Amino acid sequence: MSENIHPIFDQLVTKKERELFLGQKANVFWFTGLSGSGKSTIAKGVERALFTKGFFAQVIDGDNLRTGLCNNLSFTMEDRAENIRRVAELAKLYNSSGIITLCSFISPTIDIRERAKNIIGTKSFNEVFINTPIEVCESRDVKGLYKKARAGEIKGFTGIDSPYEAPISPSIEILTAQQTIEESIQEVYNFIIQESKID
Ligand code: ADX
Repeated sequence: MSENIHPIFDQLVTKKERELFLGQKANVFWFTGLSGSGKSTIAKGVERALFTKGFFAQVIDGDNLRTGLCNNLSFTMEDRAENIRRVAELAKLYNSSGIITLCSFISPTIDIRERAKNIIGTKSFNEVFINTPIEVCESRDVKGLYKKARAGEIKGFTGIDSPYEAPISPSIEILTAQQTIEESIQEVYNFIIQESKID
């Protein structure tokens, strides 16, 4: 099949040209952490802060994508891997468009995130570990899902009866239990802004 496909990536306006057009460097910032760790809250806040400062940024969020592009996927490891594969391909396209891309997905294993990094490209991939202990996520239980998982109403819930492997050397680690949401947003924003300025 693939011998009949002729991609034209190399004939399109380049990433460099698009970055100059937008006045920014484009990287992918991959937020990983448990459900309820604060990934989406922080990504949302950072997106707004970047936009306010004139940067062109876009959040790609787990719960959002699972209503569309990934709405046929469950939470088995196999489906999570497929979820992340699709998201990584999407993030790669955004990245080549010059957009500062914030991906917010549990992406529970080292292997799954490694695969995302390989799709996106090592140079553009930054791992943002939203490190919130499970006890804190569970006590917040914003969506009421931990309660359901403990009651056995959700099977294979990350951190309860499905694994979460923390990153070994993330680009940045945010300890949300020790600071306010605003401080967490500021910390990630400061990191991203450094990586997004054209020299
Ligand atoms: S991932 O594992 O494939 O990366 P993703 O980030 O897309 O997960 O979706 C996680 C969100 O789905 C959680 O924040 C939660 O709202 C919801 N969810 C529903 N079922 C589960 C489950 N079994 N495990 C984890 N999250 C779940």
